[in-house]
Amino acid sequence: MFSATCVAPVNMALVKYWGKRNEELILPINDSVSMTLDANEMCAKTTISASESFKQNRMWLNGDVVPFEENARLMRCLEGVHRLALANGAHKFPLSWKVHIASYNNFPTAAGLASSAAGYACLVYTLARLYDLPLNEELTTIARQGSGSACRSLYGGFVHWQRGSASDGSDSIAVQLAPAEHWPNMHMLILVVNDARKKTGSTKGMQLGVKTSSLIQHRAKELVPQRVKDLMAAIDARDFDTFAEITMKESNQLHAICLDTYPPCVYMNDVSHAIANFVHDYNETMGALQAAYTFDAGPNACLYVLAENVPRLLAAIQLAFPNDSSQSVEYLKGIPVPPVEVKNGLRDAATGHVNAKNMLKYIIHTKIGAGPQQLSEE
Ligand code: DP6
Repeated sequence: MFSATCVAPVNMALVKYWGKRNEELILPINDSVSMTLDANEMCAKTTISASESFKQNRMWLNGDVVPFEENARLMRCLEGVHRLALANGAHKFPLSWKVHIASYNNFPTAAGLASSAAGYACLVYTLARLYDLPLNEELTTIARQGSGSACRSLYGGFVHWQRGSASDGSDSIAVQLAPAEHWPNMHMLILVVNDARKKTGSTKGMQLGVKTSSLIQHRAKELVPQRVKDLMAAIDARDFDTFAEITMKESNQLHAICLDTYPPCVYMNDVSHAIANFVHDYNETMGALQAAYTFDAGPNACLYVLAENVPRLLAAIQLAFPNDSSQSVEYLKGIPVPPVEVKNGLRDAATGHVNAKNMLKYIIHTKIGAGPQQLSEE
C-alpha cells in the first residue's frame, strides 16, 4: 500500500471568476486573480492510499462517505492525474489500483466559506504526490476540472488563472504572480455573518448569469482584461491604494452581474452591505484606503488589510458590529478607535443596541500564505 497526506489552502479572488464557456471542462469566460490564504488558519487536509486489495475507489469528507464513482468532477480529477502519470511513465504502482481518500476541512462549515477550492486542490495535489508527479501548469488544468477556483489554490501568494482560448482547455492554467514573501504583511479579516437564507451556489449562479445577464459578456471581454493588468501592477508595486480600489470595484461588479441575472442571485444581505458602507466610512475617516472588502457567493465579508492596520480596524469593527462573545472587550483596551458609526439602522432606534440578527458570528484573522504542502508519505 502507498499513501500520501497533504494540506492545501483556501484562496480568495480579487478579480472574480464568474461564468464558464465550457461547463464540462470548466473553462472560464474571463481571467481571475486571487490571494492564497495561510493554511494554518484554513485548509483542506487529505490522505490518499492506493492498494492492490482495495475493491473500489472510496471517499470520506469530514468523516462522511461521499459517492465517488458517480461524481463526475471527482472522477475527472482522478482520470486526469492517471493520464499524466501514464504520460510521465514513472509511477511506483499500477494505475489500476483503487484509491481510498479521506479529506477534512479545518474550518467550520458554518462559516459558509467556499471549501471546494481547497478541497479539490488538495485532492489533485495529493494524487500527484502519490503518483510522483510534479506541480506544474498541467496539474492546474486538472484541479480546474474539479472546481474552477481550485486551480488557483495550487500556488501560494498571488495567483493568475488565465482563461486561455484552446477548446480543449490546455491553456486555461493557473500561474503564480508573486509568492507570499512578496507582500508578507498582507492580512485578511473574515467577518462571518449570520445568515438564514438559502443561496444559489456559485456553479448554478454563474450558469444562470451566462444565460440571462446582458452585462456579463461585456464585463468578461471589455472590463476584466484591463483590471487584471492594473491589479498585477499594483501587486508588483505593493500599492495598497490601487489594490484596494480594484478589489472593491470587482466585488461590486460581481454582485451587479448577479443582480442583472434573471431571476437575480442575491448573495449579500443587509449586514454585508452595512460592512461595505462601514469600510468606505472607515477609509474616509482614516484619510487613506486601509481596508478593502470582497464578497463571494455568500454574505460573509473578506477584508484585505495590512498587518500594521489590523488592530485599529478590528477594534472599529467590533464596536460597530459586535459579535456574541465578549472577547472583543479585552481586545479593545488601549486601542484608539476611530469614530466610525454604522449608519444604516442595524441598531435598535430606542436602545442603540445592535439587533441580535445583525451581529457577526465570529471573525477569522488570517493572512497571505503558501501553496499546498505534503505532510507525510508511506
Ligand atoms: C465567487 O470555483 O466554486 O468564488 O467552477 O463551478 O466549481 P465551479 O465554481 P467555483 O466558483 C467560485 C466563484 C467565486 C469567485 C472566484 O473564486 O473567483
